[in-house]
Amino acid sequence: MQNIRTVLAQDIPYLYSIALKTAFAGLDGTPYFNDTWCVGHYYAAPYFFFEPELCYVALDENGTPSGYIVGTSDTASLSSWLLETWLPPLQKHYKHHQAFKSEAEETVIRTLLKGPGQEMWPNLGYPAHLHINILPHLQGKGLGRSLMETFIQAVQEKGVPGIHLGVDGRNTRAYGFYERMGFTILEQQSWGSVFGIQFP
Ligand SMILES: CC(C)(COP(=O)(O)OP(=O)(O)OC[C@H]1O[C@@H](n2cnc3c(N)ncnc32)[C@H](O)[C@@H]1OP(=O)(O)O)[C@@H](O)C(=O)NCCC(=O)NCCS
Repeated sequence: MQNIRTVLAQDIPYLYSIALKTAFAGLDGTPYFNDTWCVGHYYAAPYFFFEPELCYVALDENGTPSGYIVGTSDTASLSSWLLETWLPPLQKHYKHHQAFKSEAEETVIRTLLKGPGQEMWPNLGYPAHLHINILPHLQGKGLGRSLMETFIQAVQEKGVPGIHLGVDGRNTRAYGFYERMGFTILEQQSWGSVFGIQFP
């Protein structure tokens, strides 16, 4: 599609902005964060630096990046790189951060300080994972489907057998979207669900 392209370095500010504006279970996180960067530091920007060919933006009618899908074909390798390379300077920066504006902000910063743990799904045929976020004015217009189909084609071309992802239990809209895209629930957690899809 003409209004979807791979992420460029110049798009990075938009990634951070979109991440924050969809950070509260899919809704605007702005009111819940003193620190406007932490969400993008963990859930958006690192993917561009690790595997840029699996990061796409959707442009609005003015050519402004207004949605993205970012991900990796190899969650285990991304986790190692996060722990060894990406996160240490951020962990130093956030180590003494205490002025949490909300539980949402505290959760993101504590996640960043802890880093990713070992997951079982990459070893069970779902090595890829992704994050997809679109600003409200472009939601419900088919861009989510286009971004997802673009991402799935790219990971399949890399020979990846499956994708997993986590969804906040409060984000019922996203549940419907992923089910429509062919994902099924692999696991229920206290915070939500892990969805997955495998390719023939
Ligand atoms: C969730 C999100 C990515 C979906 O993207 P979107 O552009 O709004 O979705 P689309 O318009 O492309 O819809 C794609 C398909 O899913 C269907 N769909 C979307 N939401 C649905 C829902 N809640 N229930 C059932 N079907 C749904 C659409 O009807 C459409 O079906 P079709 O293509 O067969 O006609 C987008 O709304 C978003 O970014 N929300 C905020 C951030 C967020 O929640 N991200 C996910 C975090 S886990």
